[in-house]
Amino acid sequence: MPDTSSIEHSGTSHKWTGGAQAHHFRGSLGRFATGVAIVAFDGPSGRHGITVNSFISVSLEPPLVLVSIARTARAHNELAGRPFSVNILGAEQKALALHFAGRPGLQPEWVEGPTAPRLARPLAYFVCTPWAAYDGGDHTLYVGEVVDFNHRPGDALAFQGGRFTTIPESELGVEDLL
Ligand SMILES: Cc1cc2nc3c(=O)[nH]c(=O)nc-3n(C[C@H](O)[C@H](O)[C@H](O)COP(=O)(O)O)c2cc1C
Repeated sequence: MPDTSSIEHSGTSHKWTGGAQAHHFRGSLGRFATGVAIVAFDGPSGRHGITVNSFISVSLEPPLVLVSIARTARAHNELAGRPFSVNILGAEQKALALHFAGRPGLQPEWVEGPTAPRLARPLAYFVCTPWAAYDGGDHTLYVGEVVDFNHRPGDALAFQGGRFTTIPESELGVEDLL
């Protein structure tokens, strides 16, 4: 087993001392590899999409998922109490991630739905009705109850260390590992 005490007590460990370490904090968080998703919904000011990597599954029964949205994001206030979709991106959909992260340059293809709009051909999607919202400091944790979902085969778009990368689809299904 690795000796984690050396991490906690070495000169490279960092305690929170304020804004000066925010950059280092983000860099440390960025070592956690994630997928990339677009949260989409219709609000009073129109259609919104925002790129997130803060998506997590929360509960199977009832089926709940969570996204963490910055209070400074234009979509933040309008998402409160509204249905939304979470669109998990495939490896070939990096342009969509950039488009919805403040670098518009596409005409995204939408699929209209009775609950919330979603993007065409994501790797997976979850359409949600609002379940709860929790204070998350400078973010709000929006939890949605999944009312529709699906997925397709394909490689996943991933984000690690501030860079986009690809996670190849496993050649083995989970049933082969049991
Ligand atoms: C890979 C990636 C992941 C991101 N994850 C989040 C996230 O989880 N929550 C969030 O609020 N913003 C996240 N952002 C930043 C928003 O996508 C970005 O600030 C967006 O432009 C905010 O929308 P606005 O420009 O309409 O305010 C992420 C950006 C990228 C590129």
